[in-house]
Amino acid sequence: DDKTRAERSILGFLQSNEVISDSHQFASSVGIGHSELESVIKSLCGFQLIESQDIKKERWLLTDEAKSYALNGSPEAQVFWAVPAEGISRAELEKKVGSQIFKIGSSQAIKNKWVEIGKQLVSRKVDHVEDSVKDLLKNIEDGKMVDDKDIATLKKRKLITLQTWKGYSLKKGPKYAPERKKVATDLTREHLLRGDWKDVEFKDYNLDVQEQPIEIGYLHPLLEVREAIQNIFLQMGFEEMPTNNFVESSFWNFDALFQPQQHPARDSHDTFFLKVPSTTRELPEDYLEKVKQVHEIGGYGSLGYRYRWKREEAEKNLLRTHTTAVSTRMLYLLAQKKPFTPKRYYSIDRVFRNEAVDRTHLAEFHQIEGVICDRNLTLGHLIGVLNDFFASLGMKKLRFKPAYNPYTEPSMEIFSYHEGLDKWVEVGNSGMFRPEMLRTMGFPEDVSVIAWGLSLERPTMILYGINNIRDLFGPKVDFNLIKSSKICRLGWQ
Ligand code: PHE
Repeated sequence: DDKTRAERSILGFLQSNEVISDSHQFASSVGIGHSELESVIKSLCGFQLIESQDIKKERWLLTDEAKSYALNGSPEAQVFWAVPAEGISRAELEKKVGSQIFKIGSSQAIKNKWVEIGKQLVSRKVDHVEDSVKDLLKNIEDGKMVDDKDIATLKKRKLITLQTWKGYSLKKGPKYAPERKKVATDLTREHLLRGDWKDVEFKDYNLDVQEQPIEIGYLHPLLEVREAIQNIFLQMGFEEMPTNNFVESSFWNFDALFQPQQHPARDSHDTFFLKVPSTTRELPEDYLEKVKQVHEIGGYGSLGYRYRWKREEAEKNLLRTHTTAVSTRMLYLLAQKKPFTPKRYYSIDRVFRNEAVDRTHLAEFHQIEGVICDRNLTLGHLIGVLNDFFASLGMKKLRFKPAYNPYTEPSMEIFSYHEGLDKWVEVGNSGMFRPEMLRTMGFPEDVSVIAWGLSLERPTMILYGINNIRDLFGPKVDFNLIKSSKICRLGWQ
């Protein structure tokens, strides 16, 4: 085949010649495409039969316009030749040479002082002209040297373009031989039958070769990062919360969190409410009564919101907007256990928000949440835990910014300095749950709860360098991205 032929030609040529100075020329003399020759060169170099050196070549090519001038003469010459000794009218001349040639050629011919345009007639100013442009174009076409000044004028007239291409110069390598020895890649049945396996030379294993991708299932990056974060929580002594209920009542998603019923997040613009079943059947009645009280008139040092709390509003079913709904259920259960036992809980699961979808937002995503419930916890504990937790994720420099959540006071947004992006990026939200929430559940006065939440998608996108969330999750997810993504190693700075 072509490649064997090319291989023989290269090795054969180098037997009696020092170098092949230009692989392009060689390719055309052998009658093989350069890219095919290139793969032969790579292979021969691999066996050190030859050595190659990159060369860069440049050459000027005629544009289509210029090609016609090389054949028929430059436009200015065509115009000149079309002018008879006695002169000719403009209209006549234009008809003779065509309007395109007339336009370009006449102005150039005037500039060259070959013709002049009078009131009536176009007439010759000289008897003979040399069509040097045509000659130059022909020289370039034939690959002859042309001096820089002429190149510049032709370039300015857009008659030539520079073509550059890469090639190789070749010479013998340390293991040069005029012919490549056939080496066996496999021991075959035939080798054994013939008995020539003793004499064949076998090809060495190439341990540097790029492996074939394995056709197996791949873990989605979100799963990988989820597992890594799960391990951090487990190492820090946290227990996982049951998050298997996407449908939640407004009561557990909002009311129990001391989020007033007229809060904008409770609008259908922000939250997906269920049509069927539209309301929940069961709520803990005496706790519900206490929640109503704390919203309406307050307690535990709080004035409450001072509005009429409606049970119908609390009964509305929705797709949970945050995993804090789960934390709230867990804290309520914990508060019922006497005596009080401290707990650390975590969850990583899906939440839903009625949001306009764009490159960083989807209507569903995953939240990571950590909750610590103990006596006498302070903001200092929260900051300490956040530093520990995010350091395990690789975010060692944190900043906190005061924020507002209806259910935490104080609240802090968490920022991490990202070296790669060279800026502070928001990585989470946190706070200490309010007494209006905790005392209503039945916790003793000295028990406090520190908690934080973040999305799973955000750190995953930063870790994997994905800038459109739709490539990661949802109907447009990019399967190739998932197949080719690296395993997760936390510590992204
Ligand atoms: N629920 C908050 C959110 O959805 C996160 C959060 C969790 C904030 C716990 C404070 C405490 O953004």
